[in-house]
Amino acid sequence: MLAEQKTIDQHLDPITIGLRPGLEGVPVTQSAICDIDGIKGELKYRGYPIADLAAQSSFLETTYLLIWGNLPSPQQLRDFEREVQMHRRVSFRVRDMMKCFPASGHPMDALQSCAASLGLFYSRRAIDNPQYVYDAVVRLIAKIPTMVAAFQLIRKGQDPIQPRDDLAYSANFLYMLTEREPDPLSARIFDRCLILHAEHSLNASTFSARVTASTLTDPYAVVASAVGTLAGPLHGGANEDVIKMLEDIRLPENSSSYLDKAIAHKQKIMGFGHREYKVKDPRASILQGLAEELFARFGKDEMYDVARALEKEASNRLGAKGIYPNVDFYSGLVYRKLGIPRDLFTPVFAISRVAGWLAHWREQLGANRIFRPSQIYTGVKTRKWKPAEERSTPENS
Ligand code: CMC
Repeated sequence: MLAEQKTIDQHLDPITIGLRPGLEGVPVTQSAICDIDGIKGELKYRGYPIADLAAQSSFLETTYLLIWGNLPSPQQLRDFEREVQMHRRVSFRVRDMMKCFPASGHPMDALQSCAASLGLFYSRRAIDNPQYVYDAVVRLIAKIPTMVAAFQLIRKGQDPIQPRDDLAYSANFLYMLTEREPDPLSARIFDRCLILHAEHSLNASTFSARVTASTLTDPYAVVASAVGTLAGPLHGGANEDVIKMLEDIRLPENSSSYLDKAIAHKQKIMGFGHREYKVKDPRASILQGLAEELFARFGKDEMYDVARALEKEASNRLGAKGIYPNVDFYSGLVYRKLGIPRDLFTPVFAISRVAGWLAHWREQLGANRIFRPSQIYTGVKTRKWKPAEERSTPENS
């Protein structure tokens, strides 16, 4: 290590300089959208408990609530549903672009590219015009499911199928994806999953959306940056890894030894733990109930017993640290039963979370100041540049 570097590092006591890795516990904005009590295990959107919304609302009604702050009147809801329905189709140019994507590529990467591409089609950056804001919301809510379903068919070598105007939002997505009209129970359960995933305060992707929004760029860039952030395995990507983990464990009786090894190797148990919750995530409990409803009708997923055994064992061992199942633990089992392929679990999360991202986009614009945090520089203070032939090792170059 260089002498100058040592001098700088000695001054770096993270506590005295107030560094908070991961910004844990650091408020960076005010928000009226979502309220979490991580000790009581409570979640509310705009003051409404999540269990009430999941039981009684629809995804589009919840989206309206999140973005505009109040539940819509019957006429406002009808108008919003009709506008979304009218904008479901995507341009043949977007579909052709998807045909050029490698079929082996991850659908989240495809979705991020497609979301960003919408900015090319609707590039007027009139973010202070309420009509532009409304239209952008409608387009993003309407087109993201169509793009996810289209990529699924395109990568199988098929042409995407067009949305069906006689089907409601969630039924239409399942139809475009599976090429079969879903039964009402499956469509309703999927809609409830979308409600559960729609918003969750300042998680990583929403923070990313707000940072991007704070530059006053267009909403398509805001959503594209959030999609990229959601893709990571510590965030939305965990739902995919949970199923991989359950399949590795294979049998309920293996869960104890799996945990022994994982804990000994300091490996994270996917679908467990949350920065905000110190108890079981309320969404995980509701999703578990939805999984059971589906299993009662269509037959049990054999991985469900593995999941329950793992939850019991992991809660015994990690519960003292406040580590319990999060939203990603049971969602994959629900999606699997609905016929959704594993690598589409996170894109499905994005279909829903776009509502929250857009709510935060609007809120950010309402009282904007560009995000520009500071850092503590820990590098070498000053170096003298030398031509390549005079450099020996990287250390004394
Ligand atoms: N399995 C085992 N130990 C865990 C886990 C876990 N899943 N999560 C946290 N811990 C332990 C961690 O090892 C650490 O222990 P120690 O203090 O002894 O070193 C302590 O708990 C704190 O962990 P952390 O990583 O500092 O906590 P964080 O608040 O930074 O991370 C998290 C939160 C969700 C990223 C983390 O719990 C995790 O990686 N979970 C697994 C991935 C996952 O399920 N992600 C989905 C999150 S919820 C939905 C979403 O955001 O999309």
